[in-house]
Amino acid sequence: MSDTNLDIEKLKNLQFKIMKDVAASALIPLMRIGDQLGLFQKLSELGPINSKKFAEEARVDERYLREWLYALSATDFVSYDGAKEEFSLSPEQRAVFADEEGPANMMGAYEVLAGQVYAEEKVIDAFKTGAGVAYENACPLCFTGTARFFKPSYQVNLIKKWLPMIDGFEEKMNLGGSFADVGCGHGLSTLMVAQAFPEASVFGFDFHEPSIIEAKKLADNAGSSEKISYEIADAKSYSGNYDYIAFFDCLHDMGDPVGAAKYAYDRLNDDGAVILIEPTANDKPEENFNIYGQMYYSFSTMGCIPVSKSQEVGLALGAQAGPAKLIKVLEKAGFRDCKIVKKNATNMVLEARK
Ligand SMILES: C[S@@+](CC[C@H](N)C(=O)[O-])C[C@H]1O[C@@H](n2cnc3c(N)ncnc32)[C@H](O)[C@@H]1O
Repeated sequence: MSDTNLDIEKLKNLQFKIMKDVAASALIPLMRIGDQLGLFQKLSELGPINSKKFAEEARVDERYLREWLYALSATDFVSYDGAKEEFSLSPEQRAVFADEEGPANMMGAYEVLAGQVYAEEKVIDAFKTGAGVAYENACPLCFTGTARFFKPSYQVNLIKKWLPMIDGFEEKMNLGGSFADVGCGHGLSTLMVAQAFPEASVFGFDFHEPSIIEAKKLADNAGSSEKISYEIADAKSYSGNYDYIAFFDCLHDMGDPVGAAKYAYDRLNDDGAVILIEPTANDKPEENFNIYGQMYYSFSTMGCIPVSKSQEVGLALGAQAGPAKLIKVLEKAGFRDCKIVKKNATNMVLEARK
């Protein structure tokens, strides 16, 4: 069937866009291979190097490695010197792919993407039934990848840029305030808060047992296990009262965000605040139709909507809910003073008070 109303220019533009997206998506398995075989770190140590020597040092087959190197050079993730037939990583490529602890690392994104491809069958069923996909059925890569993906941004922003925007936060925490990180996942944010405010009482709650086990392990490795109390708990069942209750990149994942916010309201000391970190979004969907929206709506279709629908209420806010919907959730929970205190291209920070 051919449509005579086709605008050939528009068609070509669409096809070119698809080619670009397909080329980017084709890298997903290659990035996972490089990550798991430690090829980025090896190239960082050894480069500039030809593929034969690199293969010997990395103990992998040269032909596979060479094709991998060509693919990554074609997209400028690896640098290639054609005259010498040598491969290397520039300082920027090293920072993004090889420096695991650095603030520019982005490898976690590929881990999340691989986990989402794995979820395909389950989400197809969910599309047909409207049911959710519970965390216990999600690919473990989604959890490890999420923690790894968020870590660099938390390292750069959380303590130095975001939390100082919460009125009185630093002062109160330095004087021994209490902080609960609800939906803490692997607890990287919890650990950063505990390390930055040694006088404060810091708690991490998540209903996903493997995440809490991992959070405890990471705190232990960092020598901070005494400073943080982790517990397996739903957002509507943890105990205690706190000066600050945080929902970092998780309120929209919850089935009952209003119930979770109401519960936090009741657990909050009178002059305390709930702190949300959420993906940056505008209120109207069409205002999110850009590369960030493409990424977040996609993550949300495969992850945030299915997990929210698997829980009680199943509100399914989605990762691009936008400020108005989030503030409505907080106001329904009883909060009176809700506002965005910081926003960058990927995240926004909201503060809610009684
Ligand atoms: C996208 S992850 C974010 C984890 C962590 N806050 C971070 O920023 O890395 C969402 C987390 O929310 C947790 N979660 C979702 N619904 C929950 C609920 N109802 N009660 C407690 N935790 C929940 C999940 O187990 C998961 O660890």
